[in-house]
Amino acid sequence: MGSKERAKERREKRLQEISLLRTIPYSDHQRWWSSETVAVVTGELGFEIARQLADHGLTVILTSRESSAGLEAANALKELGLSVDFHQLDVLDSLSIKKLAEWIEQTYGGIDVLVNNAGVNYNLGADNSVEHAQNVVATNYYGTKNVSQALIPLMRPSAVVLRLEDKDLREKLANLETLSEELIDRMVSTFLQQVEEGTYTSGGWPQMFTDYSVSKLAVNAFTRLMAKMLSDRPDGQKIYINCYCPGWVKTAMTGWAGNISAEDGLNRVFSTSRPTNNRKKKNINKMASLRRALVNVHRILCSTTTPNHISVSYARYSTLSNNVNENPSLGIELSNEESKRRLCNRLLYRSRQRGFLELDLVLGKWVEEHVYSMDENGVKALVDVLDLENPDLWKWLTGQEQPPEGVSINPVFSAVRDKIMNNLSSHASPETRAIPGQPWVRGWDDIKKNAGSPVAGNQ
Ligand SMILES: NC(=O)c1ccc[n+]([C@@H]2O[C@H](COP(=O)([O-])OP(=O)(O)OC[C@H]3O[C@@H](n4cnc5c(N)ncnc54)[C@H](OP(=O)(O)O)[C@@H]3O)[C@@H](O)[C@H]2O)c1
Repeated sequence: MGSKERAKERREKRLQEISLLRTIPYSDHQRWWSSETVAVVTGELGFEIARQLADHGLTVILTSRESSAGLEAANALKELGLSVDFHQLDVLDSLSIKKLAEWIEQTYGGIDVLVNNAGVNYNLGADNSVEHAQNVVATNYYGTKNVSQALIPLMRPSAVVLRLEDKDLREKLANLETLSEELIDRMVSTFLQQVEEGTYTSGGWPQMFTDYSVSKLAVNAFTRLMAKMLSDRPDGQKIYINCYCPGWVKTAMTGWAGNISAEDGLNRVFSTSRPTNNRKKKNINKMASLRRALVNVHRILCSTTTPNHISVSYARYSTLSNNVNENPSLGIELSNEESKRRLCNRLLYRSRQRGFLELDLVLGKWVEEHVYSMDENGVKALVDVLDLENPDLWKWLTGQEQPPEGVSINPVFSAVRDKIMNNLSSHASPETRAIPGQPWVRGWDDIKKNAGSPVAGNQ
């Protein structure tokens, strides 16, 4: 069975497990909610979130900028016998946020769940315009922040804040100790200033969907900050913070080009984030990077028809690499079987869960085959590779760019690159191969539907 079929099988199995989970009734002590539990949902996915929350028996307040559209959506759910209310909300308008908060306080007295789902993105496929950067940052970050700040005071004891978001940039977030609102605001201001001055391209920001990524990075950081700030609340008054990425979902934001329905995307939220008495905090970060146009390339790169046994010599690396001894806290203890097993599992996890599908497949498979037989120098070389940034590592491994010398002498890097190159040479005909040293072209224009309307995706 090929990797594509295996991935499909795993996904179907997971969906089956989720469906099964959903048929198991909650026992009374698990059911922390009732029809008295009020959930506020901002912003297409919002409809499905609202439907599923209401289906579980909560009272849901749907919001939308357009009252007529929002009322229609709420009425459609009410007709199913669900407890759903509607209030207008534009997260860009502080008065609108204030009115929502006041209305909630008067009508319901408080809330228990807030799902910050409203968001915009104006890029599709390989586009990377920052024309709408102001609006993207204002909606995705400041909108989320302002709504949270207005509604958190209305949170009743033991409530949950769900944050629906989608970017695998958590490595880039600052240390929790130093994380502050000022730091996040400074970061987005710097970005917007560079956009205005036209200097953002050299500012070291993410290369894809730049404005969307920066706004979601800020949202992630702000979510962590809230988790930290609210963590000291006494039992019974706790507010739980969850972060969740639904994957690439068929909604207006992705030009309906996502690979799962809103229902499947959201099913995972409700099957994986059940709060229980003993679960203090559940952070769910499901990072699904879907790069369909490269699927065939993945297959080629992961092919096992070329020899797997590229012999790797790690011995000289420890004397050659400058990086190796800079990280004294690797905790490499290979003589003890249990700590070796734990270390290998950790490295395997880091190589398979990078949030970059091509690397997850290629690196994950290579590491799976080699990590258990590595010596200490091998492990150090692998850790150095795993510490590299995804976009750089991918370009260097696939020959689109020359790696720096420190990387090219790394035996793990060379072995993975040799395997990729061997697979490419034996599976891709010369005329379809890109010129070495040149970036590959991505054929994503086919997903340009509904051009001009706000679109997004978890790229
Ligand atoms: N689709 C995906 O593949 C995907 C993947 C990962 C994460 N996400 C995240 O999931 C969230 C929802 O995405 P989606 O795919 O459902 O997008 P969508 O179909 O474009 O929906 C976005 C929603 O945000 C609301 N919105 C936009 N600006 C607003 C404003 N100023 N005030 C209030 N509401 C506003 C819109 O509501 P109204 O027009 O009704 O006001 C719209 O319903 C976003 O935060 C997105 O970043 C999506």
